[in-house]
Amino acid sequence: MRVETILVPDPGPGEAVVKVQACGVCHTDLHYKQGGISDDYPFLLGHEAAGVVESVGEGVTEVAPGDFVVLNWRAVCGRCRACLRGRPWYCFDTHNARQRMTLADGTELSPALGIGAFAEKTLVAAGQCTKVDPSVSPAVAGLLGCGVMAGIGAAINTGGVGRGDSVAVIGCGGVGDAAIAGANLAGAARIIAVDIDDRKLETARTMGATHTVNSKESDPVEAIRELTGGFGADVVIEAVGRPETYRQAFYARDLAGTVVLVGVPTPEMKLELPLLDVFGRGGSLKSSWYGDCLPSRDFPMLVDLHLQGRLPLEKFVTETIELTDVEAAFERMHHGDVLRSVVVLP
Ligand code: APR
Ligand code: ZN
Ligand code: ZN
Repeated sequence: MRVETILVPDPGPGEAVVKVQACGVCHTDLHYKQGGISDDYPFLLGHEAAGVVESVGEGVTEVAPGDFVVLNWRAVCGRCRACLRGRPWYCFDTHNARQRMTLADGTELSPALGIGAFAEKTLVAAGQCTKVDPSVSPAVAGLLGCGVMAGIGAAINTGGVGRGDSVAVIGCGGVGDAAIAGANLAGAARIIAVDIDDRKLETARTMGATHTVNSKESDPVEAIRELTGGFGADVVIEAVGRPETYRQAFYARDLAGTVVLVGVPTPEMKLELPLLDVFGRGGSLKSSWYGDCLPSRDFPMLVDLHLQGRLPLEKFVTETIELTDVEAAFERMHHGDVLRSVVVLP
């Protein structure tokens, strides 16, 4: 990774230039860097960001210069088959800026998830800017733009966790911890955190887990059943993205319960399950894309709940760093030392 001077075009129709104030370091940035997402180098990394709209192009009405916004990668189109059926959180034709940012020599950049916010300024589609209460800390707010929203949404949007539910979360990194915080917010009566690392389980408790299971030491399916009267949890959230943890999630849920897969598997992974168990256990097996979030609905609400002290988003910010520290932050992330490192820009 290198810090370079880039050229950010003035916003065209439907576009906005945002002065970035903070941007979290996410696994997806590392996957881009390693070529795991596409070969369209060079990438402008960074996508969990908040900042202030600096200028807008022709026809932009949803935001204006000076607005404090969280950037999203689900600027809904309003016209695709999902949007037309009233399910915009699945939008299949989301918007990004049409113009490209470039290096000084004119080389076009590929912004990560259509955002590219490890930069003082970035060009996005205006619909990628979601206004939220400006009294929130930018480092905290930016995290709603990706991983934290994915986890909270896996619990409250995809899993439909409600008052009194029992919930188990397998994998307690940033995404799993956010699912725990989301389940707690939604009124879950019992929240069981599962991980192979005791440090992660300790943090999970501070996010609202009522019980923890180290799945290196004991069988998580048995443990979850024991903690739920012998039955299994109403909702089990898989936040690792591996076949063995998915299988645990599948068997650790109660009859007619829900499994939510929010961890992202790799292309070679395969899952085998007895079809009779899939039928016989009933319920639903769901995947959660970006927490099935609708940014315009969810970001302002979650910021408000955070400001009321009901959602401890500040706990996800392990450290704030400078732009030049991102490479080192990838290293710490790889070792599981941080939930989120957040680049704060002057
Ligand atoms: N069983 C239980 N927990 C596990 C296992 C396992 N077999 N393997 C890893 N873990 C735990 C790790 O100890 C860590 O706490 O899963 C957690 C993963 O956390 P992170 O690496 O911080 O990843 P995170 O950012 O939370 O994302 C999790 O969601 O959005 C996706 O792409 C993302 O697939 C990734 C997943
Ligand atoms: Zn759409
Ligand atoms: Zn991300």
